[in-house]
Order: sequence, then structure tokens, then C-alpha cells
Amino acid sequence: MDINQSLALLAGLSPAQFMRQYWQKKPLLVRQAIPGFQPLLSRSALCKLAAREHVESRLIVQQAKGWRMKQGPIPPRSLPPLSQPGWTLLVQGVDLHDASAHALLQRFRFAPDARLDDLMISFATTGGGVGPHFDSYDVFLLQASGRRRWRIGQQKDLTLQPGVPLKILQNFEPEQEFLLEAGDMLYLPPGYAHDGVAEAAVGGDRNATDCMTYSIGFRVPIRNELAAELLHRLAEFSEDDVRLPRLYRDPGQPATATPAALPAGLVSFARQAVLDALKDPRDLGCALGECMTEPKSSVVFDEPQVDWDSGAAKASQAGIHLDARTRMMYDGAHVFINGESYRAKGADASLMQQLANQRSLSARELRKASVAALALLGDWHDAGWLRQEQNERPDNDN
Ligand code: SIN
Ligand code: CO
Repeated sequence: MDINQSLALLAGLSPAQFMRQYWQKKPLLVRQAIPGFQPLLSRSALCKLAAREHVESRLIVQQAKGWRMKQGPIPPRSLPPLSQPGWTLLVQGVDLHDASAHALLQRFRFAPDARLDDLMISFATTGGGVGPHFDSYDVFLLQASGRRRWRIGQQKDLTLQPGVPLKILQNFEPEQEFLLEAGDMLYLPPGYAHDGVAEAAVGGDRNATDCMTYSIGFRVPIRNELAAELLHRLAEFSEDDVRLPRLYRDPGQPATATPAALPAGLVSFARQAVLDALKDPRDLGCALGECMTEPKSSVVFDEPQVDWDSGAAKASQAGIHLDARTRMMYDGAHVFINGESYRAKGADASLMQQLANQRSLSARELRKASVAALALLGDWHDAGWLRQEQNERPDNDN
């Protein structure tokens, strides 16, 4: 992606300008971010996804007696009738299940993959929404069809209503209001209060149009959780022999009259254990890469439909592309894929970095792979992490 090229998606800003001026700083309203945008999934396709195991979904219904929330899977028969106002169905991670949703998410890869999360799609009947709230991550709210009225505000008071099954602000103080139509998009930085309510809309055919909103969401590591996860992985990297673990020893421990007090020697033993785990900065990078590429617990990779054609791979007659569910990143010494790390250097490292950035390699690019790299790609293929193109041949690869 050319990060200096002006994009309609970002109201004529280049990704470089957007990141400098708006990212994590202030909202941006983009009229016709994607002109003529058509929903990628019909309402019924969305409902089918919401009914599936391993797909995160929620149904939120606003009633006279308050909010009701049901976690998925949500069978279609448990959805309220379309004539009932004030309900919404939200499906998370649609990019993992639908190729066009995955392709849409790729347009936002001007932010690092370590930050990009998923595409959530919501359908709402008139008056439907999730209530005034704030998110802890950046979000682009793209109106896919119909209309939604957004009210937003930069309030300090983020107190939530008690006893409600979802996060609703107790005192919402909107400062700005925008009516979004299909193709319009609103960017909000983390912590910005917002409330989007579906409005009735009719299409060119005079039929009611579904209110569908696509949220391009980002991941935000939480410091303490990240530290806990990293330390856990770092301890696993330790070269200590598991049959001969390094044990705390205290031959100098005197008899104590205060048995509940922590021994000072144990405190230094613990400190040294943590410092030793952090000693090699490459290990920290490795743990971080594994952690950031770990697939969500709901992700299940499909068995490959065709066998890895090692002949074609060796002769590089077929390109490859990563499965939509695969997370692949790298640092100066490793490549990371779906929670695993591999040391890489030289030409193979460059090729793997290219695969991670492009999410694909053409037959021509693959020709640069060493035998060891091809074997690794074969393993990843067998795990369902990448696919081999079927039709590519060297002659038509330019
Ligand atoms: C929605 O699509 O209704 C909710 C999106 C959000 O507020 O983050
Ligand atoms: Co939100």
C-alpha cells in the first residue's frame, strides 16, 4: 500500500496523514468513504453465521423493561420478528468466514497487523443499537446499508449503568451528531463515547433497507495481561533442564519466630528468575510475536482440500496465499505464524517477510525459496494455514 497516496476511504487524506492527525487522537467523519458500497453479506447470510458454532455473536433487544442480551450461537428462530423495533444482531470476526469481508479489512492495513482485529457486522431494526458506550479500541464504523444516527462525545465521566447486561454509559453527553448513509464512515479513537441508532430507510425500489453497520475494530493489548502472557512464554523458553529444575535453596535459613514472613532469600530468588527470563531481548521479541499471532480461541483451521503439491512448489509452478484466519508477523530474527516462531535469516527471511506483508507469494516469488523454506510452507499448508493456487503456471506469471 502506498501510504502517501490520498484515499477516498480517509476523506482524501493519505494513510500517513490520517495516522499523524487522527489515529488515537480525534474522530473523522468520511462521507462516501466507499462510494456505491453494497453490503457484502445479506441479512440472511449474517443470520446463518450468527447461528454457527465458533462464530461470536450477540443479540441485543431493547424492551420497556430494559436491555436484554443473548450470546450466540443464535438460531434464526430465536430472533425477534423484523417488525419489532429496537433489536440488533452483532456478528464478530466476519472476516474469518467470508472472503469479501477479509478483503475489506485489508484496506485498513495501513495500521500494523498486530493492531488490526476484525470486522464486526451488525443488523438492526429501527431504533436498534447497543446503547451509549465507549470502546477501549479504535474503530471505523462503516455504514453498509440503510441509515444510522451517531451521537458522539468526548466525556470524562465513563461511569457505567449498574445491573445492565451490557456496557451502557450512565450519563451520556453527546456533543456531535451525524446521520450516516450507505458508504459513509466514522472513525472514533478509543474512549470516545458513542451511540448509534438505526433509522428507517427506503431504497430505490421503495422497499425498507436493512440498517447494517460494519465495525473495523482494532486490538489493544492490556499491559498487565500482556506482561503475564509474555512471562509465561519466556519461562517456557528457559534453557533449564526440566528434569533438573533450578530449585530454591536456603541452607543459611535460620530458625524463625515469625514463620509467616516471606524470607528475603526467596524474594531475591524470585527477582532473579524474572530478570533472567528477560535477559535476552530476542526472547522477548519472540514471545511477543508468538503472543500477537496466536489465533483467537474460536478459530478452527480447515483441513486442506487438496494435497500439498511439493512438485509444483519445488518447481514453483503455483503461488500461495495465507488463509484468512492466519496471523503472520515478523521481527528482525524470527517469523511468527499462528502462535509459533521460527528463526529466519537471509533470503528465506526476506521471502517469509514478503509473505507476511502481502499475505501471498506468486509462483515467481516462491522460486526464491530454499528447500527448507518449501518444507515449512508444506507443513503450514497441511495445517490449513495457507493454500496453494491451483492455476498458476510459470509462463503466465509476469
Ligand atoms: C453497532 O454496530 O451497533 C455497534 C458498533 C459500535 O458502537 O461499536
Ligand atoms: Co462501540
